[in-house]
Amino acid sequence: MSPQPQAAVGAPLSRVDGRLKVTGQALYAVDLPHARTTSRGGTPIIPGAVHAVIVDSGIGRGRITAIDTRAALGHAGVLRVISHLDAPRLPYQRNPLPTAPPGERLHVFQDDKVLFHGQPVAVVVATTLEAAQHGASLVKVAYDAEQPSTDMADAPADEPRTYARGDTDRALDSAAVRMEMTYHLARNNHNAMEPHATTARWDGDKLTVWDKTQWVFGTQIELATVFGLPPESVRVISPFVGGGFGSGLRAWPHVTIAALAARETKRPVKLALTRKQLYFGTGFRPAYEYAVRLGSDRRGRLTAMTHDVRAETSSYETFTESVLIPGQMLYSMPNVSQEYRTVPLDVHTPLFMRGPGYTTASYAIESAMDELAHRLGIDPIELRLRNEPEEDESSGLPFSTRRLRECYTVGAREFGWHRRNPTPRSTRDGDRLIGTGMATGVYDTARQDARASVRLDADGTALVQSAASDMGPGTYTSNTQLAADALGLPMGKVTFRLGDSLMPPAPPHGGSWTMASVGSAVQDGCDKLRTQAVELAVEDAASPLHGVDPDTVVVRAGRLHVKNNPARGETYRQLLTRNKRTHLEAMGSFTRPTGPERHSLFAYGAVFVEVAVDARLGLVRVRRMLGVYDAGRIISPKLADSQALGGMVGGIGQALLEHTVTDHRDGRIVNADLANYLVPVNADVPDLKAIYLDGDDREADPIGVKGLGEIVQVGVAPAIANAVFHATGRRIRELPITAEALL
Ligand code: MOS
Repeated sequence: MSPQPQAAVGAPLSRVDGRLKVTGQALYAVDLPHARTTSRGGTPIIPGAVHAVIVDSGIGRGRITAIDTRAALGHAGVLRVISHLDAPRLPYQRNPLPTAPPGERLHVFQDDKVLFHGQPVAVVVATTLEAAQHGASLVKVAYDAEQPSTDMADAPADEPRTYARGDTDRALDSAAVRMEMTYHLARNNHNAMEPHATTARWDGDKLTVWDKTQWVFGTQIELATVFGLPPESVRVISPFVGGGFGSGLRAWPHVTIAALAARETKRPVKLALTRKQLYFGTGFRPAYEYAVRLGSDRRGRLTAMTHDVRAETSSYETFTESVLIPGQMLYSMPNVSQEYRTVPLDVHTPLFMRGPGYTTASYAIESAMDELAHRLGIDPIELRLRNEPEEDESSGLPFSTRRLRECYTVGAREFGWHRRNPTPRSTRDGDRLIGTGMATGVYDTARQDARASVRLDADGTALVQSAASDMGPGTYTSNTQLAADALGLPMGKVTFRLGDSLMPPAPPHGGSWTMASVGSAVQDGCDKLRTQAVELAVEDAASPLHGVDPDTVVVRAGRLHVKNNPARGETYRQLLTRNKRTHLEAMGSFTRPTGPERHSLFAYGAVFVEVAVDARLGLVRVRRMLGVYDAGRIISPKLADSQALGGMVGGIGQALLEHTVTDHRDGRIVNADLANYLVPVNADVPDLKAIYLDGDDREADPIGVKGLGEIVQVGVAPAIANAVFHATGRRIRELPITAEALL
């Protein structure tokens, strides 16, 4: 086939769903059961729905000894209170998904045990939200409380996961330069704008849920296994997601509670977590302790590095993430040894949060590289160039594309890196100490199987569907762009739908998988459909394209024509109408190559930051930030910028603000709200800029993308920390970097 002209892909288009979002017509799970968009009041989307509110455990560990529901049940509007005292026993079959962590998920209302502070101990169902809220406040729970263990510093760890190559002990013994540092990272919470919410409705044995999720199939399989249903009896609908950052990558207990409450009351039930409940009702980025030992020669060539990592997990599930990978492949060195220990605590189970594992590792590794550069008096970029590997030393595989040298060069030039005085605490602006720092980012390109259906109607409009999700990166828009070009239609003639488990399968919307996986399936489906149309035309004696070599036909603006002879052709509409075809259909698919990978697939980035630190108050202000990315082909540049700037903002939060604080006396999270858990606001966000290296990565997937959503946060926190060191001469090895730490 002749390559299609590119009109939409690569163009800085606005979101196709932007109008729906800004006019309130995009239906988020938390907005149900009523849309709140019309002047006449809400349209009931799910008639007859009632409301559920969860009663949270007031202790951090122990047993429930009594639950008094009399006052709650006496409150007007309260229909039911469900707890372990009267809840039916649920099958809770094993969740077969590979993403389910080892261990066993929390079983709601199945026994009297309390495993963490805030665990659901009852649910109140009422005709109005207000009645359910008040009813929940009237439920009296008595406990036999034990001392919870919530402090990673004091708790024993599991057996480590390990990696080793070479002989690090020997290499460190003989290294000309040896350094040892330990870095600490606070627990973070996702804090998306939209709280998690689920509305559940049973129709006989069939369950429909409208859920906030990054993966409709994850919710479907969770509910099917909890209730012992065939997966096809559970339909999950999630067309819009008001932010996620990873928190929607598994179905949390409240999803089960909504379905259980609906079954028990025989009414559709809506359950929305409160802002506070999000801190213990959904996952979190675990707190980490990350110890590094490194050895190098006097010219900064690394000889060895050890990584001893400890991270929180729950007592009932072992959550792990890819925190070891950067240490194995980012820099060249013969000797690496790693130990990764999870520490089971009386907390709920963590989950992936933007740039999972990599943001954590990059903070430690990139801070350590900066410390080494300072110790040796080598420019931090030069140090990284001296340790740039020729191949992936963890696998021996060639890199598909690895353009870090260009990221450094372009970034240094654009940022003005070489104007910096390398001496820490050497630059002032009034009361402010000015510093610059940089760090490297890396994130793996791990695309997954996906399918997409394509239908072209005789009127020249197309519908493309895949059960993907769009938590904000612009899945709707980028896939419309791909489909429009592949079908040869204007953007306005193509509709892309997602977020329904009845649609062709898509992988979890996370890990920067969506564009590579779903996009490749969309491309495939649209290519197949266009091929069908071209074949129909060249075989049709009545078509102006009859007898033409199909490889010379392209489609532009809904019209098929010979590439070098635009006059010879006809529209989809003419072709289909004449052939009495109401529509054409195709199923696109992307299958992740089976067998061992032949290339090492990663996206890369280099982040440059300037900070100003108030010399008397210790307040850190980021003044400007530049990210340069080797992320493969950029389908949708305007939305890529939204992703990149959002990742930088997330990194500012991780570096300077975000810290979930637990009271270790009872396991309570003390800052479970957005007044006390600090996230960056506009005043914290300076001049941000993203640059993408041109090009694509054809080893990664047919559309050449490497994924962008994660890489853009990786490296931000260490770049800020390194800039703070350069400004102040103070090396703070703990995130977030607070004013107190700098005083
Ligand atoms: Mo992102 S943590 O992969 O949703």
